[in-house]
Formats: sequence, C-alpha cells, structure tokens
Amino acid sequence: MTANPTPPARGLAGVTAGRTAICSLAGTLRYRGYTIDDLVTGSFEEVAYLLLRGELPNPADLTAFTTRLQAAASDLPETAIHMLERLATAAPRASVMDVLRTGVSLLGQLACDDGPNQPITAEEIERQTRLAERLIGQGAALLAVWIDLTTSRQPVPWPEKPLAAALLERLRHEPVTAAAAKAFDTTLILYAEHEFNASTFAARTVTSTGSDMHSAVTAAIGALKGPLHGGANEKVLEHLGDIGIPERVEPWLAERFAARRVVMGFGHRVYKQGDVRARLLADVCRRLIRSEGIPKSHLHLEQLADTVEAQMLEQKGLKPNLDWPAARVYHALGLPIQVFTPIFVVARLSGWTAHIIEQMGDNRLIRPLSEYCGPEPRPYPPPAEQLD
Ligand code: ACO
Repeated sequence: MTANPTPPARGLAGVTAGRTAICSLAGTLRYRGYTIDDLVTGSFEEVAYLLLRGELPNPADLTAFTTRLQAAASDLPETAIHMLERLATAAPRASVMDVLRTGVSLLGQLACDDGPNQPITAEEIERQTRLAERLIGQGAALLAVWIDLTTSRQPVPWPEKPLAAALLERLRHEPVTAAAAKAFDTTLILYAEHEFNASTFAARTVTSTGSDMHSAVTAAIGALKGPLHGGANEKVLEHLGDIGIPERVEPWLAERFAARRVVMGFGHRVYKQGDVRARLLADVCRRLIRSEGIPKSHLHLEQLADTVEAQMLEQKGLKPNLDWPAARVYHALGLPIQVFTPIFVVARLSGWTAHIIEQMGDNRLIRPLSEYCGPEPRPYPPPAEQLD
C-alpha cells in the first residue's frame, strides 16, 4: 500500500474544522470580539449572556438573565433529586463528573428534549437559548446538591445571588467574602469558552446529527472529564501535594520526565507562547491568597508552584495553562479537589450551549474522512479453513 504523502495531522492539530462567531484565539482570546482582559472586569452572567445572545446585556437584561439562572438553579426536578439521593447511597465515591453527565442526561429525558424543531426559526433559537439558560442554572444546582448529599449536609435553598457567589456559598456552606466571590467569578469567566476544544467539538458533532442539546452536553461532559482537558485542574493539586516542598521539585520532575509523563497544567495545543487566561488568573491568585480569611499556608503552596513553573520553563520551555492557577485558586477558596473539574463544567455550559445553538442555526453533518492504514485487501478464507 502506498503511504499518503501528507498524512492527516495527529489529533487534528492545526486543522481548521469549522467556522464560529463565538470565540477567537487570534492574537489574544476574545469572546464575540471582546478581549478577555476586558471581560474579566465584568461578571460571569454578563459573559454567559454575551456568549448565548451575541451582544452584551443592558442592565435590565442582565438582571432578568441573572434571575432566570437563579430560578433554574432553585428548580431542580424532584425526580433528579431523588436520583441523586439514590446514587449518593449506591456510589458515593463516584466521580462528580459522572454525576453531572448522568444528571444532564436525566434532565434531558425529563424535559423530553428531542432536539430542535425544524426549520430553525428565530423562535426556535430563542427556545434553545432558554433551554441553555436552564441548563447553566441546573448544572450548578446538580453539583451543589451532590456535594450536600455526599457530605451529610442538609441541602439549603439556592441563594438569591449571582451564580459565582451562590455556587461558592452552596459548596462552602457558609457566607463568602466579596473578594472570594470575585476570584471565583473570574475563574468562571475564563473557563466559559474556548473555541473548538475537544469537548466543544464533541458537542457540535452530536448537534450536527440533529440530536438535542442535552445529548450534546452529555457528550461534552464526557470529553471534559479526561485529564488532558478539564480533568487537569484536579491533577495539578495532586501534583503539588505529591511534591510537597520546593527541594523536591527537581527530582519529582526528573522522575516524571523519565517516565515520559506530562505535568498537568502546562502546555497547550494552541497557545505555544503561554495561555493568556493563566496570566490573568495568576494575578487573581496572588491577590486572593493575601486577602482576608485565606490561611497563610497558601503562601507556601504558591512558592512551590513558582518553583515548578520556573523549572518547567527552563527544562521544557513550557508555560502554564489555565488549569495551573485555577487549581490553586479553588484550593485557596477552600473547595475540595473533586469539584474542580465540575466547576469547569458549570462555566463551560455557557460556551458549549452557545456552540450548540450556533451549530443548529447553520448545520451540516460533521463527518470527516479517515486515512485507512489496515491490512491490504485479502481473500476471505473458505469455510473449512475457518474451522481450523
Ligand atoms: N508536561 C511535559 N511535557 C509536555 C507537556 C507537559 N504538560 N505538554 C507537552 N509536553 C511535551 C510533549 O510530550 C511533547 O514532547 P515530545 O515532542 O518529546 O513528544 C512536546 O511537549 C510537544 O507537545 P505536543 O505533543 O505538541 O502537545 P499537544 O498539543 O499534543 O498537547 C496538551 C497539548 C494535551 C495540553 C499537553 O500539553 C498536555 O498533555 N498538557 C498537560 C495536560 C493539561 O494541562 N491539560 C489542560 C489543557 S488546557 C484546558 O483544558 C483548560
């Protein structure tokens, strides 16, 4: 067999696989044309609205949108709560990503979501956008209820606050400072959207078959769970815990490299000169650990992180990605490791659903080709030989 002179890019690296008006990485990260440096001065609600509806909200739109997210978070179907209760007894140690994946799938079944009505009219886009808004609120509520159930805490009503403050309060089960809520909100803004990453592409592929929003999001959550994508933020904290002290950084990295294992929170398929989101969040992290109510022990963790960062740059020329500071921000906010990637889900629900709606509005089945690299054509053996 003659080999293709230009074999396909492994992992579709460098391949432009479609068009989007939602996000661009050219020069810097922009959502709908606005730079991420500007957007972090606003709120998660403002960004989610922008992603879903294409324009920034005016104050009245923003209030109404915030209220709709709160209403969705306060209104998980009883059946979903019962299911979580049963699962919390049957499999309390299950990955929280599995809980969200199953939860979103169940919400789709309860909503009888059979996909968009054809043809895709402006009314249908509005109906899908409302479904997306519900999913963002419900995703946050699923996470909070599961944590209550598996830590023997009495579930409390969803706080009437913006999503970041409300979710942080529900996960911590105590009031949170404005500085903590703002830092958490910034992580949600930075995690909200990132063009054709693996989970978003999975969601668009499912949508392209004419399937429904809940199915597409279920697939996206499965893709995000992997440690090369969203799961990296949980591994970052495990790494820092394993290393323990700055003196251990060099031997730990040497062992890791010798075993040809990647260091989570470093490198990126697109950003080869550094991830703009990591730079922005590192500043937030530095301010946060010096703010009121944050234990001084976090300063040591930051020194350790700085040492790892310097060594990664020196030895591999690699810079951190968003997961590197995000893990440390969540740890400083007193959150348990198992909720790190699920928080990414809550934020990315806004980006995924914006892409799902964009795909619905201008759809063609996503069905690429593959280059065959198996056996040459060969004769099927006669029946007698098959028995041998
Ligand atoms: N640690 C050590 N070495 C690395 C790392 C890393 N984190 N990232 C890349 N490299 C090495 C690769 O092993 C490769 O070395 P080689 O040429 O000797 O084989 C070289 O750098 C080039 O890397 P690529 O293979 O081109 O990277 P790719 O674009 O395929 O992968 C990825 C990108 C998956 C993010 C990779 O950098 C990685 O595994 N990082 C760790 C996981 C992680 O942090 N994921 C989060 C992504 S961001 C997000 O989801 C918000």
